[in-house]
Amino acid sequence: MSKVSVPITNDWCPQTLFTYGTFKADGQPNFGLFCWFSYCWFDEMGVMCAIGGRKQTQDRILATQVFSANLVTEENLALTDYFGTADGHDADKMDVPFAWERGQVLDVPVLSSSPLSFELEVEKVISTNDEEGDTVFLCRIRNVLKDKALLESGLPLPELMRKIGAVRTAGGVEYWAWDGRHLGSWHEPAQQVKPGVEVGKAAQM
Ligand SMILES: Cc1cc2nc3c(=O)[nH]c(=O)nc-3n(C[C@H](O)[C@H](O)[C@H](O)COP(=O)(O)O)c2cc1C
Repeated sequence: MSKVSVPITNDWCPQTLFTYGTFKADGQPNFGLFCWFSYCWFDEMGVMCAIGGRKQTQDRILATQVFSANLVTEENLALTDYFGTADGHDADKMDVPFAWERGQVLDVPVLSSSPLSFELEVEKVISTNDEEGDTVFLCRIRNVLKDKALLESGLPLPELMRKIGAVRTAGGVEYWAWDGRHLGSWHEPAQQVKPGVEVGKAAQM
């Protein structure tokens, strides 16, 4: 294979998407959309998340040290794309219909339509850019919630994964289905949730 050097990019690297849930200072839930998410090891599996700039989600994680990470699927893509479009510092961001519930171990809001949710507690905060407020959070997984029907479905793994329907992002600002179908560009599905919604300042990372 002959290789060529290109400007820094991760555009050929598919990333799993999660929506992070936090409680705002007034006790109401707030959700944002994130893909810079992976795993690390303490004495058990943990999670690492990179958050750019000073977003509502980051403010609340720093304040409460806990949050949920909920797997994005085809079923909730429009809603979660909206969460990645509107700015959590705007008072009306969460003024859309959706179902949430409380975590079973931590005091975090969990997205009901997500088949898998992590309840996360921050173990370490690493600043990667003091000026811009960019941060990496290393987190303990305090609980994993799975959809009961899927868990008990008895489906063979390939079929189960198709049914879960996790969405990935790759190729810049594009969404892809688990089986490779193109699902549109970032901020397009959000228009089904709130027609005319504009990309908030916090979403321009
Ligand atoms: C597909 C997608 C992935 C994103 N991934 C990240 C990410 O990994 N880190 C980040 O800081 N922001 C990411 N964002 C931007 C946030 O979702 C956006 O800033 C959003 O406003 C955050 O919600 P909040 O303002 O309620 O905190 C992403 C946005 C989209 C559409």
